[in-house]
Amino acid sequence: MQEKNRFYITTPIYYPSDNLHIGHAYTTVAADCLARFKRMQGYDVFYLTGTDEHGQKIEKIANEKGMQPLEYVDGIVKNIRELWDTLLITNTDFIRTTEERHEQVVQKIFQKVYDQGDIYLSEYEGWYCTPCETFFTERQLVDGKCPDCGRDVEIVKEESYFFKMSKYAERLLQHIATHPNFIQPESRKNEVVNFIKSGLEDLCVSRTTFKWGIPVPFNDKHVVYVWFDALINYLSAIGYASDEEKFDKYWPADVHLMAKDIIRFHAIIWPIMLMAIGVPLPDKVFAHGWILLEGGKMSKSKGNVVDPNVLVTKYGVDAVRYYLVKELSFGQDGLYSEEMLVNRINSDLANDLGNLVSRTAAMIIKYCGDQIPQPGVAEPIDEDLRNTALEIYQEATKKLEKLDFSNYIIAVMRLVSRANKYIDETEPWRLGKDEEKKDRLASVMYNLAEVIRIAVTLLTPTMPTLPARVNEQINVFADLDHLTWKEAGQWGVCQPGRKVIKGQALFPRVDIKSLEEIVMEPKETEVKKTNETKAEETKPEYITIDEFAKMDLRVAEIIECEKMEKADKLLILKVKVGEEERTVVSGIAKYYKPEELVGKKVVLVANLKPTKLRGTLSEGMILAASDENNVEVLTVEQVSSGNRVK
Ligand code: ME8
Ligand code: MG
Repeated sequence: MQEKNRFYITTPIYYPSDNLHIGHAYTTVAADCLARFKRMQGYDVFYLTGTDEHGQKIEKIANEKGMQPLEYVDGIVKNIRELWDTLLITNTDFIRTTEERHEQVVQKIFQKVYDQGDIYLSEYEGWYCTPCETFFTERQLVDGKCPDCGRDVEIVKEESYFFKMSKYAERLLQHIATHPNFIQPESRKNEVVNFIKSGLEDLCVSRTTFKWGIPVPFNDKHVVYVWFDALINYLSAIGYASDEEKFDKYWPADVHLMAKDIIRFHAIIWPIMLMAIGVPLPDKVFAHGWILLEGGKMSKSKGNVVDPNVLVTKYGVDAVRYYLVKELSFGQDGLYSEEMLVNRINSDLANDLGNLVSRTAAMIIKYCGDQIPQPGVAEPIDEDLRNTALEIYQEATKKLEKLDFSNYIIAVMRLVSRANKYIDETEPWRLGKDEEKKDRLASVMYNLAEVIRIAVTLLTPTMPTLPARVNEQINVFADLDHLTWKEAGQWGVCQPGRKVIKGQALFPRVDIKSLEEIVMEPKETEVKKTNETKAEETKPEYITIDEFAKMDLRVAEIIECEKMEKADKLLILKVKVGEEERTVVSGIAKYYKPEELVGKKVVLVANLKPTKLRGTLSEGMILAASDENNVEVLTVEQVSSGNRVK
């Protein structure tokens, strides 16, 4: 068989019922890591993500906000796209189920399955969990609640179309048995098989009691059940029934990635839908675990979420992606805490990786001029280093192929540790003192540059800005735009003579003491209202004058201002509050040039708990007003600095 050189990977299409949190970021970053890895291997990758916009849940939330469903989700979808930009997600397409290209395909498929007699009209009576958009029988409930999320369910009794799932149960079991990698990891497979064996009922695939969905083509009293609609995105996005060539190129999908909450939809309902329409099944359905908080699973409807934007602003995109990719052990759940994130940054990234690069750069500058030297005298220990690198290349590749993300990272970081140990063993500072050891020293330095090149290449799918940042110090990559995976498995790629410069720390250490608790509280979704009347409909939440007085707002004069290096949104301001001087980091670099701000008197929240932003302690926050296009800091003309604003 000819080697397949294309790769199709998907994430779930998320509900835009609220802004997304690090749980969603986990899946999307992990999928991105795999997509980038495959591209580096030379595959033509189609990476799909998107949003699941229909259904009762979305209709209800929009109603509560006094908005039309589409108007509501438009705002959230914009935030989701921005979040993926911030996280440097390289999706090929972004599908919204409200798009014409999708709705048409759903109607076509519904019609086809109906015409062949696999969908029939009957009456549904049972329970429905709206947050999960899932039907349950009385028997399946646990203490009268949703067995999946534990929340209240509602009774549903309506005329519905049913999909003859039961008819395909045997065939699906057969497929699972003959395709051992179809459902991964193994524990999930067993769960699915047991579920099917306990008896599949026909699935209710239409609703009549609300309107926000795709109309059933031959009976517009009904809208298509949101899961029947949503799953089809994996076909509609790549041209099913519209662009045959594209569809044939990418289908079947190589992997549908998701968390375990929705494995049954993907490993039971979806394959049966595909069987019914005569389309081959995807190669693999992979369910990772959940990111948990102390209080349980993080979830939009529980409101206990961690906003990835905040983390990226504080720690940078590479560090956040690194943490996520490493976080969940193969198929297992993992507990999130900001403290653990900071520990990873300090130990893995600052201590191990960052130090390896900065020590090596400093030594090359000190002992070899400012160039990567030509290797000279070899010793057996070099062979050990090289073999470790080549073994770890193999291991990292294998782990990534298996979607064992955390062990892939652990393997690469072993190489980083090995290289640090190599420095201790070879003692370059002693070699440097001895003129006769110059050639030996050159080899040690060259070998370190090579290991750095290899480790950084292997980490690139996880930390996409790392190669360019490393190159600013040790210029090991000749062609940053075309890093290939293969080169990480080769020794001696780096050309001697390339430049080395002493640069800034790759990953500044974070002071754990200054760590503030973030987000965990329920948060109002930020959806921009489109007109005045809507703003009036929202319920006011009053605070007392005493609560307001807790805020220490002061006039502050900006006396110095500079851009923060490698953070395109941040400015570092020096302000005077009366006699006192303070440093404030502010995310307004896109709207003000540093020189425009110097001399302005602004309003400072003076008693905000100090927090580190990208390694700089920020002692307060500057007030600004904003709309879609502008951000304007509030200024004061006459009153002098240090005075109170109230
Ligand atoms: O289920 N830990 O959308 P959804 C890890 N629209 N991953 C998490 C997570 C957590 N705490 N929370 C969410 C839907 N996820 C449907 C999908 S697909 C045809 C339709 C991730 O917004 C994880 O990938 O509830 C999970 O499966 C998905 O978000 C659920 O997203
Ligand atoms: Mg969910």
